[in-house]
Amino acid sequence: MIESKSPQTCNHGVPTPVDESEVHLWFAEPEALVGEQALLDSYRQLLCPEEAAQQQRFMFERHRLQYLVSHALVRTTLSRYGALDPQDWTFRKNDHGRPDVDNAGYQQLIFNLSHTDGLVVCAVTTRHALGVDVEDRQRNTRTAEIADRFFSPSEVSALRRLPQREQRERFFLLWTLKEAYIKARGLGLALPLDKFSFDVDGGDSITIAVEPPIVDDVDAWQFFSFCPNGRHRCSLAVKLVAASRPLRLVARQIVPLRDETCRAFDPF
Ligand SMILES: CC(C)(COP(=O)(O)OP(=O)(O)OC[C@H]1O[C@@H](n2cnc3c(N)ncnc32)[C@H](O)[C@@H]1OP(=O)(O)O)[C@@H](O)C(=O)NCCC(=O)NCCS
Repeated sequence: MIESKSPQTCNHGVPTPVDESEVHLWFAEPEALVGEQALLDSYRQLLCPEEAAQQQRFMFERHRLQYLVSHALVRTTLSRYGALDPQDWTFRKNDHGRPDVDNAGYQQLIFNLSHTDGLVVCAVTTRHALGVDVEDRQRNTRTAEIADRFFSPSEVSALRRLPQREQRERFFLLWTLKEAYIKARGLGLALPLDKFSFDVDGGDSITIAVEPPIVDDVDAWQFFSFCPNGRHRCSLAVKLVAASRPLRLVARQIVPLRDETCRAFDPF
């Protein structure tokens, strides 16, 4: 398992090269932008009409802000890798709602988005299927009930063997890994959550086992999990294309369109 160390400062301002040996995470904090009207207006300019309409549908302002910052993050992040302006990215959705880049010439640019209270993250790589999930570990959640209902029997028994004080942390570790995996598969909750199991007790590496009806090449997967701050946990699932070596994770925190000096996590 991977834990974050102290953030460092890095200079950033040039397009990030697409490096097939790396996977990148870009974090942003919506709550830090409350009241930043000019910046938020510039984010609104980036949304397509469907995104703008979706953003207005949320009942609570914090969800409208989260959606706005998330989608500005996705668009500005993609423009770090491709020669398109942020507002020019177009997306197609699969039958389960997974958005992917639709622009000609950029369909090997793979991204996935996750948002929760206080933090949003966009993961980017090329060619490899990928899913990311971030959760607020401080939120009020009935962890034991959810685990019993949704986790696999082996995950539940490993969780219950832990001392009580460690069970909540294990819950969010498994939850984010499970979400990251179903998002990487692009199938959402169509994938039965109790038919795949994570083993996180094997030292440095996280492994997955699947059972019918799920079919998968389990050895092709690389998983990462870490806490980018004291409140959140983030997990990432990457299915490596054939003959690919394990990827290096690079994680950064930014303010889209403003903060080109980014806070870089060194989770390894
Ligand atoms: C929709 C789902 C894919 C992710 O939901 P989530 O964890 O609430 O949301 P996240 O913030 O992590 O991800 C949402 C983003 O993922 C992307 N997304 C949507 N459907 C997706 C799919 N099928 N596959 C991959 N990514 C998807 C979108 O970009 C979406 O953001 P947007 O709606 O602002 O465009 C699905 O897994 C779900 O509904 N989960 C519910 C939570 C649950 O019961 N989890 C049990 C875990 S044990």
